[in-house]
Amino acid sequence: MEIKTIGILGAGTMGSQIAQVAAQSGYNVVIRDVEDRIVENAMKSIDGFQSKSVEKGKITEEEKNAIVARIMPATRMGAVKDVDFIIEAVVEDIAVKKKLFAELDELTRQEVVLASNTSSLSLTELATAVKRQDKVVGMHFFNPAQLMRLVEVVRGLNTCNDTVEISMDLVRKFRKEPIEVRIDSPGFVVNRMMIASNIEAIRLYEQGIASKEDIDKATKLGLNYPMGPFELMDYTGLDINYYVMNGFYHNLQKELKWDPPLSIKNLVKAGMLGKKTGCGWYDHKK
Ligand code: NAI
Repeated sequence: MEIKTIGILGAGTMGSQIAQVAAQSGYNVVIRDVEDRIVENAMKSIDGFQSKSVEKGKITEEEKNAIVARIMPATRMGAVKDVDFIIEAVVEDIAVKKKLFAELDELTRQEVVLASNTSSLSLTELATAVKRQDKVVGMHFFNPAQLMRLVEVVRGLNTCNDTVEISMDLVRKFRKEPIEVRIDSPGFVVNRMMIASNIEAIRLYEQGIASKEDIDKATKLGLNYPMGPFELMDYTGLDINYYVMNGFYHNLQKELKWDPPLSIKNLVKAGMLGKKTGCGWYDHKK
């Protein structure tokens, strides 16, 4: 089956970014959320991002107009009935996603792949909501999806090879690089690497081996990462980092290496959550 139209569920941060990625690659997109206000905001942010690309000389005004015209906003579920591929990007809540997948299973053709952009939930569990468990797959984009080149394609226990191949191929058509995550496991690959590095950085700091500033500097200059772990945690939010560390600890055999260090726990308790509050590992009010 040729994929021409992609249905995106959820027009929040990720849904509106993924819609642009698909439209930029020539696909028609139907983006569906629950309220007019939300899809209108998504279309505004899409227009804004594409206009900036015109200003920067990356695309022409005509190309921008064609990209935006390929994206159809909707609030009715019926709008995604005839799409050829689904990418779900609704709130990170297994109950909400399962209910939605059950509806999509009834609504769309049985051969259509149901991909989820979940960053932490089990694809295997999500697939239990549908009859076509072999067609459920993870398609984990990174924020901002228009710029980040990697997409993790994640197998659930019953995902078939065809589904993985179709999804990896679509990622390449999006001009992104896929990797296959062979086993459905918390954090997939990238978040597991990132959280391990963040925890190790906090331990180095707690043990007095180096300052936060020097650990960030070492990571940037010695490993060639664009950001140090403390900067990264302040950017992504200390609360989210703490929540994910706890999740890994409980879901990965309670291995002590995932146990959140005391200093991040205390910062979170004190409401020092990173850039959004102006303070975290660093004082951002300065
Ligand atoms: P968000 O909160 O910005 O957007 C979620 C949207 O889903 C909301 O607009 C909400 O109204 C909508 N929604 C809820 N139920 C719906 C339904 N039944 N049908 C259609 N829309 C529905 O969330 P965000 O950040 O875009 O995250 C979405 C998914 O992407 C989550 O699974 C998250 O874990 C994942 N993700 C998020 C990243 C991020 O940096 N924000 C990065 C990678 C993955």
